[in-house]
Amino acid sequence: MLVEGKEMRSLWWDDTLKLIDQRKLPFQLKIFEASSVEKVAYAIKKMVVRGAPAIGCAAAYGMALAEDKEKAARMLKRTRPTAHDLFYAVDYMTENEGRIEAAHRYVEDIVEKCRKIGEIGEKLIKHGSRILTHCNAGALATVDWGTALAPIRMAKDKEIFVWVDETRPRLQGLLTSWELKQEGIKHAVIADNAAGYFMKEGEVDMVIVGADRIASNYDVANKIGTYEKAVLAKENGIPFYVAAPISTFDESISDGKKIKIEERDAEEVTKIFDYLPPEIRNPAFDITPAEYITGIITEKGIIKP
Ligand code: MRU
Repeated sequence: MLVEGKEMRSLWWDDTLKLIDQRKLPFQLKIFEASSVEKVAYAIKKMVVRGAPAIGCAAAYGMALAEDKEKAARMLKRTRPTAHDLFYAVDYMTENEGRIEAAHRYVEDIVEKCRKIGEIGEKLIKHGSRILTHCNAGALATVDWGTALAPIRMAKDKEIFVWVDETRPRLQGLLTSWELKQEGIKHAVIADNAAGYFMKEGEVDMVIVGADRIASNYDVANKIGTYEKAVLAKENGIPFYVAAPISTFDESISDGKKIKIEERDAEEVTKIFDYLPPEIRNPAFDITPAEYITGIITEKGIIKP
C-alpha cells in the first residue's frame, strides 16, 4: 500500500516483528515492535494489529518467536475469538514447526491471495461505480492489498467513488479513509446509519466487505453492522459482495449461529459521551446469512452462496 507516497506493509519482519500501530491511525504513523510471542499476543488483543488476515500473519510471527510452541499456540488462540485466520495461521505454524521461514511463506501467501482477490474482484466493478464498504478490509487488515479494498485499488482508474461507513465504536472506517486518501481514491465517510439513505437515493451501485469467518453454508461473520448493510442492499436491489481468502473459511462450522462473536469493552462505546447508561453491550461482529450475499470473492474465484 502507499503510505506518504512510499510502498509499505502493515507489518513486516526486521530482526523482530514491526507493525503499524493501528490504534494511533489516522492521526499518527507509529511503529510497534513485538520481540516476543507475549508482545505479539498483546498487539492482537489490544488491536495494534487488526483485521482477520493481518492478525493471522502477526500470529505466524508470534509462533516463530516462541520457544514453547504449544504454550504459544494456546496464548495466541485466546487473544480474539472470531477471526478464523488467527487459528488457521497458528495451526499452519504448528504443522510447519513454527520457524521464521514458515512465517515468511505464510505472509507472502496471504499477500498473493489478496492480490488475486483484487484481480478477480476488479472485473465486477463497472466504470464510475459507487461502492460502499464497511469497517476496514484494506492493506492494514491484510498486510497488503486488502480483501474488500483490493478490487477497489485495482479499479482506481475506472473513476470509482467509495462510501466508507464510519464503523462505530472503533471507527475502522477512518482507517479505510486513510488508506484511500493515500491512494488518491475518491471517497466520503458516512455515519453508519446513513448507508440506507444513500442506497435508497440510488447512490450506491454495489457493496464490498471483508470477512472474519465464513461458515461452510457461507454465512459470514464480519464487523458489527455488516448484516444490516446486507439486508438494506437486498431491499434496494444492490449486489452485496464479500471478499476473503480461503484462510477465512471455517469448514468445521456448519452455519453462522456457531461462530463465536467477540464482545468487547463497554468503554469503546462510552468513550465519546459523558453519560453512563445502566447497561452497555458491545458485540464486535455479526453474522450475515448466506441468502443476502451475491458472491464471495476469493483468490480461487467467485463463490455464489
Ligand atoms: O475488529 P477488527 O477491526 O479486527 O475487525 C475487522 C473486520 O471486521 C474486517 O472487516 C474483517 O476482518 C475483514 S479484514 C480483511
